[in-house]
Amino acid sequence: MSTTVQAPGSAGRQARPAPLGRVIFITAAAAMGGFLFGYDSSVINGAVEAIRGRYDIGSAALAQVVAIALIGSAIGAAIAGRVADRIGRIRVMQIAAVLFTVSAVGSALPFALWDLAVWRVLGGIGIGMASVIGPAYIAEVAPPAYRGRLASFQQAAIVVGIALSQLVNWGILHLADGDQRGKIGGIEAWQWMLGVMVVPAVVYGLLSFAIPESPRFLISVGKADRAKEVLAQVEGDGSHLDARVAQIEQAMRSEHKSTFKDLLGGRFGLLPVIWIGIGLSVFQQLVGINVAFYYSSTLWQSVGVDPSSSFFYSFTTSIINIIGTVIAMFFVDKIGRRPLALIGSAGMAVSLGLVAWAFSAHLVDGKLPHAQGVLALIAAHGFVLFFALSWGVVVWVLLGEMFPNKIRAAALGVAASAQWIANWAITASFPSLSDWNLSATYIMYTVFAALSIPFILKWVPETKGKALEEMG
Ligand code: GLC
Repeated sequence: MSTTVQAPGSAGRQARPAPLGRVIFITAAAAMGGFLFGYDSSVINGAVEAIRGRYDIGSAALAQVVAIALIGSAIGAAIAGRVADRIGRIRVMQIAAVLFTVSAVGSALPFALWDLAVWRVLGGIGIGMASVIGPAYIAEVAPPAYRGRLASFQQAAIVVGIALSQLVNWGILHLADGDQRGKIGGIEAWQWMLGVMVVPAVVYGLLSFAIPESPRFLISVGKADRAKEVLAQVEGDGSHLDARVAQIEQAMRSEHKSTFKDLLGGRFGLLPVIWIGIGLSVFQQLVGINVAFYYSSTLWQSVGVDPSSSFFYSFTTSIINIIGTVIAMFFVDKIGRRPLALIGSAGMAVSLGLVAWAFSAHLVDGKLPHAQGVLALIAAHGFVLFFALSWGVVVWVLLGEMFPNKIRAAALGVAASAQWIANWAITASFPSLSDWNLSATYIMYTVFAALSIPFILKWVPETKGKALEEMG
């Protein structure tokens, strides 16, 4: 590739600029964790009914088997930061890859329901770890001018993972003549769905050996020479590198922080910047985005869509999610994180409001009248589009870059873990809330989308183009 990356903001001569291809490869390899995050968290949807049948369990127990992985993710996110500070970012990716592999094999071939739950939790821990290490690592290796775009690879990989899991599930179901428990080569379709994840898990593990350790981690363990070599790969070789290493060392020395204890402080227990991270994470989930993915068929059916076409509609949602994400990748470094998030919040509030209004119509045979049904479909897709081009990308980008160097991994862990808990709260409460009142449930999501506007205006910093050493 002929395009090269200049080291923005760095004084000094560049003898050899870094090839953009190498930077993109490193970013894409790290973002494979995001792919597994998206794939693993949505693959289960194709298998739930079969699991219910095989183990003869009710909805409540089934919901636990699905949701338990999210608790694993909260744990994985909480520990990943500290582990990454001890043994490095790459090792954490490798641990996550092993967890994904073991979980895929285990949950495809369980002995009983209890060990299926254990394998799902292990996979969940892997997702949580990947959700933290991807953004942290990418932000640490990316040159500032491209950091937003490169960091959004993580979200792009998540959304492609969601879409591909739907497609693979559909393909497997097709081979099994539409029966989740139908056999292909002696193994039931749902087991294949869970087992196929072995492939991306192994690829992720292998790719992690082909990318360098984060320069900031190397400096923190006293390997400045090695850090310089890595910086040369991503920011270009030249005399500016000594100044870069000195800048990072200086920034690390001035922040005497490294453990969870160092996140404490301020009037409300944690440092203000940690609360902002938690707020971003929690708002991202409280707008109900994962209801659109995890419970899409419920929605489509109440709109009057035939169950056999619900795959088609869910896949359309995923494609819209991908399109929105690509749009955001173009704009995140141009117009900045804050404007993008604000546009998204406003768009989400309006479209969620319309969904709520459509669902307030009187149901006939459990379905909406035609006009409201069409409105609900369009508005629900509009919501996903606005989410994708704003909060989907912006939150993961900001979480990777907004914390000072020395607390980044631990702080990101806390914020991401709050996000998994919020995700769990929303997905676990949706079935009962929607039984009670679907319209009111959507009004609640609308209110959260509206509240995210003053939250951004008052607290969220703009990080576009700044070096990581300038955050704090
Ligand atoms: C973000 C959210 C995740 C959601 C996805 C949908 O990555 O963190 O929970 O599933 O967007 O695109």
